[in-house]
Amino acid sequence: MENRKIVMASRPAGWVTEENFRVETGPVAKPDEGEVLVKNLWLSLDPYMRGRMSDAKSYVKGVDIGEVMVGQTVGEVLESKDPKLKPGDHVLTQLGWQLYGVGAGKDLAKVDGSRAPLSYYLGLLGMPGLTAYFGLKEIGQPKAGETVVVSAASGAVGSVVGQLAKLWGCRVVGIAGGKMKCDFVKDELGFDACIDYKSEDVHGALRTLCPKGVDVYFENVGGPMLDTLLRHMNLFSRIVVCGLIAEYNATEPYGYKNLRAILVNRIKVQGMIVFDWKDRYGEALKALGEAYAQKKLKYRESVVEGLENAPRGLIELLKGGNFGKQLVKLA
Ligand SMILES: NC(=O)c1ccc[n+]([C@@H]2O[C@H](COP(=O)([O-])OP(=O)(O)OC[C@H]3O[C@@H](n4cnc5c(N)ncnc54)[C@H](OP(=O)(O)O)[C@@H]3O)[C@@H](O)[C@H]2O)c1
Repeated sequence: MENRKIVMASRPAGWVTEENFRVETGPVAKPDEGEVLVKNLWLSLDPYMRGRMSDAKSYVKGVDIGEVMVGQTVGEVLESKDPKLKPGDHVLTQLGWQLYGVGAGKDLAKVDGSRAPLSYYLGLLGMPGLTAYFGLKEIGQPKAGETVVVSAASGAVGSVVGQLAKLWGCRVVGIAGGKMKCDFVKDELGFDACIDYKSEDVHGALRTLCPKGVDVYFENVGGPMLDTLLRHMNLFSRIVVCGLIAEYNATEPYGYKNLRAILVNRIKVQGMIVFDWKDRYGEALKALGEAYAQKKLKYRESVVEGLENAPRGLIELLKGGNFGKQLVKLA
């Protein structure tokens, strides 16, 4: 058996390109005591990967040049030297952009393909779902009847944020790029409205759609979008700074103009990183799993086929070419 992996060949300057990656082949590693050999079936592509390709200081160390790209996968256990796992089990891993990998059994979480498609454990029932749940519940703290706005609303995190806010009794307005995404957000996900920031004036649309202002803004985008929302936030409102994808490939930081609104309206602005809640993942996975089983949460995926296409998938994701959770089908 031969392993194939994608390593980072060079650091991007500005936008990521396919030249920043290289495919390598080699033997498949053997598991030692306590370890497990996994065949990866699904690879998750996520916006944070752009940050890991940079050597700027961040909340987690970046990938080194020549190192396998980081990423979560769902895979099948082929060989196990951990008594808790057996061949055929499906597991959630951090093995990255490769077809096979060896991991410590204690670091692998078993997932159940009979409850949901295996790929969902990388999205709705995985890291993006957890991000939506804790970011909204703990930082956004929405109350029934309040107005919640979420950007990148058709995406992995945004789609769950908006649906949870609806389930919790809020009025929900999404912001997404293009008519297809906005129609999906309204008609399929059940948001009250969706603003197409590519064809509409976001400021004018917010004035019409949120006449009583915004109580919670769940930020996935940053840049001019955040600046515009600052003008609509209510007294004692909350902004969940979950992601700033519009800034990830920029060579200059965006210059915010409306920060005065934070002072005047006593807005609580808080960054969130999902793993700060890792002790409570069980609570969120139970809530998300139950809502999914009761058909109260809808979910959409964008799939590229084959490991070699992972770089293209990441580049598309960073440009908004995905429509739903971006994945690579490896097998
Ligand atoms: N803090 C955490 O722990 C954590 C965890 C997971 C994710 N995140 C963050 O959450 C955000 C969403 O992640 P995701 O995995 O759910 O991705 P996603 O929303 O499924 O995909 C990214 C989306 O961002 C939008 N986008 C890209 N460039 C944009 C731009 N310049 N202006 C406006 N929108 C743009 C695109 O949607 P449109 O076509 O609608 O523009 C694109 O589809 C990201 O910022 C990510 O970094 C944070």
